[in-house]
Amino acid sequence: MVPISVEKDGLSIKELTHAPVDAVYITPSHQYPLGMVMPIANRIQLLDWAKKHARWIIEDDYDGEFRYRGKPIPSLQGVDEHNRVIYIGTFSKSLMPAIRISYMVLPPELLGTYRQLEWRQSASRLHQQTLALFMRSGQWEQHIRKMRTLYKKKQALLLNEIQSVMGDHCAVSGQDAGLHIVLHVKSKVPAAVLIKKAKSVGVLVYGVSAVRNKKEHQASILLGYGGLSTEEIKKASNACIKPGCMIINEFN
Ligand SMILES: Cc1ncc(COP(=O)(O)O)c(C=O)c1O
Repeated sequence: MVPISVEKDGLSIKELTHAPVDAVYITPSHQYPLGMVMPIANRIQLLDWAKKHARWIIEDDYDGEFRYRGKPIPSLQGVDEHNRVIYIGTFSKSLMPAIRISYMVLPPELLGTYRQLEWRQSASRLHQQTLALFMRSGQWEQHIRKMRTLYKKKQALLLNEIQSVMGDHCAVSGQDAGLHIVLHVKSKVPAAVLIKKAKSVGVLVYGVSAVRNKKEHQASILLGYGGLSTEEIKKASNACIKPGCMIINEFN
């Protein structure tokens, strides 16, 4: 496995072209964990790379259903004319994680190999059939539209709470899509300390420890809001972001 850096727009395609790899795994709809959406020009470059060198792109359409700003961007699989993309997705966030249903769209060339695999999927057939009916009836689309509006509202509330209290003491990224944002606190205190302090006031947040943060005096913290009610977002923000809170004290 070869790690590839991410830049402002997501995966570094320049670095990828020099990497000795047969396939690349990406989450272009919402890079995990930093949250950038890969622009169409980069998607085309990536497809060109895959075509030219006969490589595979594994496109995990993570958070693809929940895009809030900017023009819709087609999936790589949607614009791929050379069958180089393995498209995967899950219903964990768009519906519920407990049903454990995900999907994969394979290029025709790989179908034969897939069918030879001793592969037994374990998702309930009843759930799969019910989901299919839900989709055919048009209610799936309705559900996604409703949830997109709701998540957008929750995100706006969270961003507003952050902006009103922290102002220039922080920056936010990853807000164009998905169910989390990344809060970059201008602080000399490491993210792990801030996370621990948030936990001590009952707020569970995560770091982006898998990512090497090149910026000094900046602690990056992942804030998920999808599963919280607006009341809970306000409560968490009162406990953890508003004056008197521990995070805010650190950059004073
Ligand atoms: C990058 C990425 N892809 C996909 C998923 C969904 O995985 P699962 O369907 O197993 O919950 C996650 C979960 O958060 C994820 O972080």
